[in-house]
Amino acid sequence: MSKTVVVLGTQWGDEGKGKIVDALTEKADIVVRFQGGNNAGHTVMVDDREIILHLIPSGILHSDKLCVIGNGLVINPKALIEEMTELSDRGIKLSGNLKISKNAHLIMPYHLAIEKAKEDRKGKKKIGTTLRGIGPAYVDKMARVGVRVVDLLYPEVLREKIQANVSEMNELLTKVYGMDGFDAEEVYKEYIGYAEILTSFVDDTDVLVNDAIDEGKRVLFEGAQGTLLDIDHGTYPYVTSSSPTAGGVCTGAGVGPTKINTILGVVKAYTTRVGSGPFPTEIMGPFGDEMRERGGEYGATTGRPRRCGWLDFVALRHAVRVNSLTGLIITKLDVLDGIDPLKVCVAYRYQGDLITEFPKELNILEECEPVYEEVQGWQDSTKGIKEFDKLPENAQKYLKRIEETLGVPVDIISTGKKRDDIIVMKEHF
Ligand code: IMP
Repeated sequence: MSKTVVVLGTQWGDEGKGKIVDALTEKADIVVRFQGGNNAGHTVMVDDREIILHLIPSGILHSDKLCVIGNGLVINPKALIEEMTELSDRGIKLSGNLKISKNAHLIMPYHLAIEKAKEDRKGKKKIGTTLRGIGPAYVDKMARVGVRVVDLLYPEVLREKIQANVSEMNELLTKVYGMDGFDAEEVYKEYIGYAEILTSFVDDTDVLVNDAIDEGKRVLFEGAQGTLLDIDHGTYPYVTSSSPTAGGVCTGAGVGPTKINTILGVVKAYTTRVGSGPFPTEIMGPFGDEMRERGGEYGATTGRPRRCGWLDFVALRHAVRVNSLTGLIITKLDVLDGIDPLKVCVAYRYQGDLITEFPKELNILEECEPVYEEVQGWQDSTKGIKEFDKLPENAQKYLKRIEETLGVPVDIISTGKKRDDIIVMKEHF
C-alpha cells in the first residue's frame, strides 16, 4: 500500500479528476493542492446543494482531513474567502483543517486587468485563458516581485510591495494598454482586510506535509489542469502557467521525489480541450457536438463548451513519460457506450512522415494529421458497472488496449457520475 499518492491529469485537464480525488480522499489523512489557482473547478454536493470548489481540496468536507493549499499555487484571496464562507455557512469546519502555505503567491487585482488587456490584444492568437489572473501572477512570481501569502502577516512589507508593483503596473496599463490604473492604497486596504481573515490559516505547509509523511500518514496530492497544459511539457504557449505534472508536486508542495510512492494519471476515455491551441484528434462538426452533449463537456469554472476528440496515444505516451506514471485511471467510459466503431490515434502524419512522439514544435503539431485505428465499440451500457468482468467484452478490450499501448496498468475505471460508479482494480492507501 502506498502512503503518498499523486492524482494528476494526462490530457488538457477536465479528465474527471474530481470524482477520483473524492474517492481517494476517503482514505487519505491529508490532501494537498500543489499548483494552479482558481482556474480549476471541482463540483461537490453539500446538503443537496452544489458548491464549486476552485482552491480548497474537497477533502474539506470530511471533518478529519487536513487540506493544504501548497506553495505552488497562486491564490486569489477574495475567491478563497468566498469559498471558505460558503463552506463555513454550511457548517463545514475550516479551523485546523485548512492550511495555506506562506510561500504561495497572491493574485492581485492588476493581474486580472493585465491578463484581459493582453488576451484582447492577441485577437485570434489569444490563449483563451480563464481570465482569473493566473498567468500574470506567475509572471510576478518568476520576476521575483510577487506578493506572497506571508506578506499578509507583515503590513509594512505588504504595503511597500503593493506600492512598487502598482506604480510599475499602472505605467503599463495606462501607457501601453490605455486603461485605468489602480490606487495602491486602496489595493493595500483590500488585502489587509483579507489578511485578517486568512492569517490564522497560514502555516509552513512544507513542514506539515513532510512531518506527516514521516509519521506514516497517507497523503494525497491533487493535481489541477493536465499534462498538456503544463508550462514545460504542454502545448506551449497554449498552456497554463504552472506545472500540473508530477515534478510540480515536489516544487509545489516542498516534498522530494523519493517520498512519492504512486503517481496516477487520469485519462478520460476520449479527449477534450477548452481554450485555444492544437488538438490533433479533435472531432469537428455534428459528431463532435454529440460527444460534448453525451459527456456534458462544459467547463466547471467558465461554463465554456469543450472541444471533443478521440483518444490520442501519441499525447498519452508523452504524459506517461514526463510523469513516470505508475497507474492509469480511466474515466467517463460510459460516455462511449453505443459508439461503434471507436477510433484511437496511434501516430501523427506530418508532411507525409509518420510521427510517434508528441512534437515540441507548435507549428508541426498544428499541422499533424491523426493516424487512426478503428476499434470495435459496444452497445450495452457500462454505466454504474462495478466489476471489470461485467463490462461488455469490447469495453474490456478497449481498456486492455490502453494498458498495453501505454505499458501502464489501469488501476481504476470510472463508469458514471455517481460516487460508486467505479471499478477498483487496485487499492491505493
Ligand atoms: P489559465 O490557466 O487561466 O491561464 O488558462 C490557460 C489555458 O489553460 C487555457 O486554455 C484554459 O482554458 C486552460 N485551463 C486552465 N484551467 C483549466 C482547467 O481546470 N481545465 C481545463 N483547462 C484549463
